[in-house]
Amino acid sequence: MEPIPLAKPDLGPDEEAEVLSVLRTGRLALGPRTLDFERGFADHTGHAWAAAVSSGTAGLHLAVRAAGIGPEDCVVTQSFSFIASANCIRYEGGEPVFLDVDPSTLSLSPDLLAAYLDGCKEDRGGLRDPVTGRRVAAVLPVDVFGHPADWNAILDVARRWELPVVADSCEAVGSRFQRPDGSWVHTGTGAQAAVYAFYPNKQITTGEGGMVVGDDPDVEERVRSMRNQGRRTGDPWLRHTRLGFNYRIDELSAALGVAQLRRIDEILARRGLVAAWYDQALEGIPELAVPGGAEWADPAWFVYFLRVDPGVDRDRLVEHLNARGVESKAYFEPAIHRQPPYASRDDLVPFPLAETEAASSRIMIVPFYSTMTQEQVERVASTLREGIPLARRPA
Ligand SMILES: Cc1ncc(COP(=O)(O)O)c(C=O)c1O
Repeated sequence: MEPIPLAKPDLGPDEEAEVLSVLRTGRLALGPRTLDFERGFADHTGHAWAAAVSSGTAGLHLAVRAAGIGPEDCVVTQSFSFIASANCIRYEGGEPVFLDVDPSTLSLSPDLLAAYLDGCKEDRGGLRDPVTGRRVAAVLPVDVFGHPADWNAILDVARRWELPVVADSCEAVGSRFQRPDGSWVHTGTGAQAAVYAFYPNKQITTGEGGMVVGDDPDVEERVRSMRNQGRRTGDPWLRHTRLGFNYRIDELSAALGVAQLRRIDEILARRGLVAAWYDQALEGIPELAVPGGAEWADPAWFVYFLRVDPGVDRDRLVEHLNARGVESKAYFEPAIHRQPPYASRDDLVPFPLAETEAASSRIMIVPFYSTMTQEQVERVASTLREGIPLARRPA
């Protein structure tokens, strides 16, 4: 039987035409397609500005740097994430402080954030970690799997302590949350900067690529300049006002982004339909909990994930699916605090990470993409049903 991949980009004639048109102009970098993509993305997410970059990781690095994070600083974040959301802090010499996630969102728990900050000390003009003495410089929540973090609560806490917020929305293009006034806004709204990613497994893709969005013009100026070797808008080619990087997106990738953005509503609706097929096909399996979502959230699923009952060996179930051509993965496993660059550092984990550990040992992801058929979804479901008794742990 044909294998079913974990993810697959949704590319059609529109994408081909856009990329071909760039090839024919011969202008492959620093051109009009990047501006079109940025304008379209800012409009789509409701932000004042959007700056396209070469990857989500590059965007996170710039957002962290624009927030002024440096050596001696720490940033409050979560370990249940992809490693880039912590590495970007290290790039600037800072350290992450890993707090536990709320199991309903899999994102940074606002209650634990408040408790941690309440336990910090005001000293030498800043809020300091009570154990390490590092200055708490920012908060960096992650919109995991396309479900928005509890932004209303997180932004409230961060505002109380006047901390800038960087949103890792790399997995959450199209995901929205409802504000207390009833309005629906995109993830990361209210943060100093939010970062999206367009790797081919994401909701929309540019190949490699990312986008930093925000509303503050000073942050915009720093991000645009730093992604372009430290040049300021209008600077001559060899004038570099500040330390910068080459984190630019190229025109071919931007053109792909323009075409994908034009189809984003159609792609997200299709992904929503596939998720609904999964919900239906997996109903009534007590060993598997399906994603769900908070009532204030309008998730745009990045992956379809399952929380496996502790009575079933998640890893054996994943093996069973892969052996039958249904690509699946344990996710995020290991969590970041257990990855080699972080594992030996107890000072990064002030409180136990019980929910992170539980999610990391029980969650798996199964094939999910917009062009999946209902038959494929049913094949995944029947392979899961078949695998559960085989993966059951002895009583
Ligand atoms: C939560 C999270 N942050 C950051 C990234 C990094 O994005 P990129 O792979 O485009 O660098 C990803 C990508 O998978 C991600 O899932």
